[in-house]
Amino acid sequence: MTGVVELPGDKSISHRYAILAALAEGKSEIINYASAADCRSTLECVRRLGAEVDIKSDRVFVTGAGLDGLKEPRKTLDAENSGSTMRMLCGVLAGQKFNSTITGDDSLRRRPMRRVMDPLAKMGAEITSQEGGRAPLEIHGRPLHAIDYTTPIPSAQVKSAVLFAGLYAEGETIVRESVATRDHTETALREFGARVESLSDAKGAVKIYPRPKMTARQLVVPGDLSGAVFLISAALILPESSLMLHNVGLNPTRARVLDFLISIGGSVKIPTVQLRDGELVGDVSISHSNLTGGTVAGTQVAEMIDELPMLAALGPFTEKGIEIHDAQELRVKESDRIATIAAGLRAMGASVEEFPDGMRVAGKTKLRGAKVESHGDHRIAMALSVAALGATGDTTIKDSDCVGVSFPEFFATMERLRGATV
Ligand code: S3P
Repeated sequence: MTGVVELPGDKSISHRYAILAALAEGKSEIINYASAADCRSTLECVRRLGAEVDIKSDRVFVTGAGLDGLKEPRKTLDAENSGSTMRMLCGVLAGQKFNSTITGDDSLRRRPMRRVMDPLAKMGAEITSQEGGRAPLEIHGRPLHAIDYTTPIPSAQVKSAVLFAGLYAEGETIVRESVATRDHTETALREFGARVESLSDAKGAVKIYPRPKMTARQLVVPGDLSGAVFLISAALILPESSLMLHNVGLNPTRARVLDFLISIGGSVKIPTVQLRDGELVGDVSISHSNLTGGTVAGTQVAEMIDELPMLAALGPFTEKGIEIHDAQELRVKESDRIATIAAGLRAMGASVEEFPDGMRVAGKTKLRGAKVESHGDHRIAMALSVAALGATGDTTIKDSDCVGVSFPEFFATMERLRGATV
């Protein structure tokens, strides 16, 4: 794996910019907007809610309707595969003067939504779901009041939904978390002019003031580190690799995975860093390394939640293997990621012990190509692709098109980097 990559825009940040641009006054320009299908779903939803959206390749122009300017959608909103779209929009929709319904694809309709319904109900929202707190969700817009809420499970999506509802609530809304999850919502809210404070008395506590004047912005989305981790991992395990990634989002609430990779012997260097639109961005260089392996547990889990399938798939290529604990949240992602990555790796000859909250993937194991299933989960397809590159023989990954959910250019990028010269 050799070459230079300009990464597509970060998925998490793109969602937030699209939603906030729709609530701001004026025309925002979002540069390097994620090519991820998930982020298209968000654009389509905000368009149906009355924002004007003009997509010019990786530049997206959103003319906001203003905080009180959204209109009742004529049809059901469709978040497709995107949990972020559904959960974060619930926060916005709860405080509107109209009713709306939001649904998603088969995978999203299986995922738990009570985690956003509960705090929003405490704010006065009325949201009805299918059995078991599943989508479609019917959201009856209501006047909201502020709450002081401690999330039972650390989740940036839940925090964001409550903060977005806090824009409409009477009083100042506080969200507290046991682990500070990604803070892109707080940063983006500030960029658009909202007042958001981190509480100095408590780590992972944030307060939002209601009814700010939010104005359109021109913003550049950093490259997606969670997508980059697949390229980084491939470079780490494949001999003679040397890779340079430009413009990578390095927000400390996202970049723990780089610390982890360095801690297990990965040669990952960050020659330049700068702050742009409130987000840290920089270049990252990677070269082939001998990895020792290690354990991910406790607070690290929430900090690297999207990277865990890839870290698990690195296990066979390490000395001591990779062990993951406290990660039961992986079971309610786009697929049951503990089961799906374990099955894929086992099919390739890895030795995997599964726990209710994680797994142990043994080290020093030679993988062989196999027929494996992505289960329609983009991160499983990409993690297995990297494992496949390190295996002998060919691997076939079923439904590999699902990578488009977060990284449509993934296979073309991998192909280009194999054997290219810097
Ligand atoms: C995200 C938060 C995480 C993550 C997801 C994106 C976000 O989900 O897994 O891919 O953009 O806020 P949870 O909030 O469920 O942990």
